[in-house]
Amino acid sequence: MPGTCVIGLQWGDEAKGKLVDILTGEHDVVVRYAGGANAGHTVVSGGQTWKLSLIPSGILRDGVQCVVTGGVVLDPASAIREIEMLESRGVTVNGKLQLSDRAHVVFPWHIVEDRLLDGSLSGGGAIGTTGRGIGPCYRDKVGRSLAIRLGDLYRDDLRSRIEHVAAFKNRLLASWPRPGEAAAGPLDPVAIHEQYRAYAERLRPFVADTTAYLLSAVEVGHKVLFEGAQGALLDVDHGTFPYVTSSNSSGLGVAAGSGVPGRWVDRVIGVVKAYSTRVGGGPLPTEQDNAIGMHLRERGHEYGTVTMRPRRCGWFDAVAARYTSRLSGVDELAVMLLDVLGGLDELAICSAYEIDGRRTTQFPSQITDLEKAVPVYETLPGWEEDLSVVRRHADLPAAARDYLTAIGDLLARPVVIVSVGPDREQTILCDRSTSRRLPWRPSQPSPAAGG
Ligand code: IMP
Repeated sequence: MPGTCVIGLQWGDEAKGKLVDILTGEHDVVVRYAGGANAGHTVVSGGQTWKLSLIPSGILRDGVQCVVTGGVVLDPASAIREIEMLESRGVTVNGKLQLSDRAHVVFPWHIVEDRLLDGSLSGGGAIGTTGRGIGPCYRDKVGRSLAIRLGDLYRDDLRSRIEHVAAFKNRLLASWPRPGEAAAGPLDPVAIHEQYRAYAERLRPFVADTTAYLLSAVEVGHKVLFEGAQGALLDVDHGTFPYVTSSNSSGLGVAAGSGVPGRWVDRVIGVVKAYSTRVGGGPLPTEQDNAIGMHLRERGHEYGTVTMRPRRCGWFDAVAARYTSRLSGVDELAVMLLDVLGGLDELAICSAYEIDGRRTTQFPSQITDLEKAVPVYETLPGWEEDLSVVRRHADLPAAARDYLTAIGDLLARPVVIVSVGPDREQTILCDRSTSRRLPWRPSQPSPAAGG
C-alpha cells in the first residue's frame, strides 16, 4: 500500500514540516490536501531555513512530485511568491509542482471579509484568524454562487464572473463596517481581473487535474505522502468549534481533500509537540500563563510563522491528543520539540479533565464544556541535560524516556520518532519496543441525550 499520512494532533504548529521533510526521502509524491496560506512550514535543510506556506516542502528534494489538491484554497499571489522565492534560491519548481484546477481561489474580497468578520462570533469573541481569507473562501466554495476555482481563471467569461461577484461583495462590504471602523472601499473588478489574468498566466505551467494524477499514481504503486496542515483540534467538524479553521484538518480530510480514497493510506503518523501551543482564540485547558509558559515560548521559539503572533503555551494535553489520534486513525506517534522541556524541575501531563466536578477522559464536543475543563495532571520529574545533541533513545536521560513512555501509554500508541532540534540530524528513531503501549480500554458509547 502506497500512502503515508502526517497529521498534527494538537492546534497546529507541531513541527510537521520537519517530519515531512525527513519522510519525503522515502516517497515519490507529497500532497497538500487542505487549508491554504494560513499554514506555515519551517524546514531546515542543508544549513538553510525555508519557510513555506502552500507548496509542500518536498519541493526541496529532487525527483519528488509536489501536489496541491482541490481541497486547498489557493491564494495565487502567495503561490507565486513562494515559487519565485524557491527559484531565486536555486530550487527547480518547473516539472515538480502541480496545482489542482479544482482548488478555490482566494480573492481580495475574502481578505477584507476575514478582517471584518473576525471578532463577530455569535455570542461574542474572536477566532483570531490568520487574516488570509481562508474562512470566507471556503464559505464561497460551499455557497457556490460566488465561487471561482483555479480552472475558471482560464475561461473566456472570467471578467464577467469577477464583475458579478465584485458587485455583490461591494454591496455586502459597504453595509458591513466593524464598530469604530469605516466601511471597506469598493473593490475594482477591472483591476482585479487584470491582476488575476496575470497570475493565471504565471501559474499556467503548474495547473493540472491532480485528482486524476493521484489516482493513477496510487494505482501504479507510487509512494504518496499526505501532509496535514494545521492540527486536528482545528478541524471544522471535529475540532474546538467555532475556534477552528474552515477545513477538515484532521486525518478525516485526506480523502475528500485529495480525491484519493482512505483505503490507499496504510500508515498514519500523529505528530505532537512535547507540550501544547495554540495561536488565536479558544480554550487551551492546560495553558500556563506564567513562568512555565514563558520558558516554553522562549525555548521553543513559539511565535507564529505566518502572523508572528506569540503562541499560547501549556502542558501536554493527553485527553485532547488521544481524542485526535483516534479520530485520525493514528498508528504511531512522533514527539517533537522534546528538548524544549529541559531545565524545568517538574513536568506535568494532563490525563483527565474535571468538568462540573465530574472526572472524564473524553474530549468534550461542546466548547462550553471545554471552557470549564479543569486539567487533572500526572507529574513527572524534569531533566537538566541538553537533549539537542542526543541521537539515540538509549542516550536520553531516564526522565525524558519516562516522559515519552507516559505520552505513548496515555495515547495507547508507540512513539517511533522524537525530535530534539530543528535540524534533520536532530532526530531519534525509536524501536517500537521502547514504547510500553498499554492496552487501551474503549469507553462505552454514551446514549444520545434524551434517549
Ligand atoms: P484561519 O485558518 O485563518 O481561518 O484561522 C482560524 C484559526 O486557526 C485561528 O485560531 C488561527 O490562529 C488558527 N490557525 C490557522 N492556521 C494555523 C496554523 O497553521 N497553525 C496554527 N494555528 C492556525
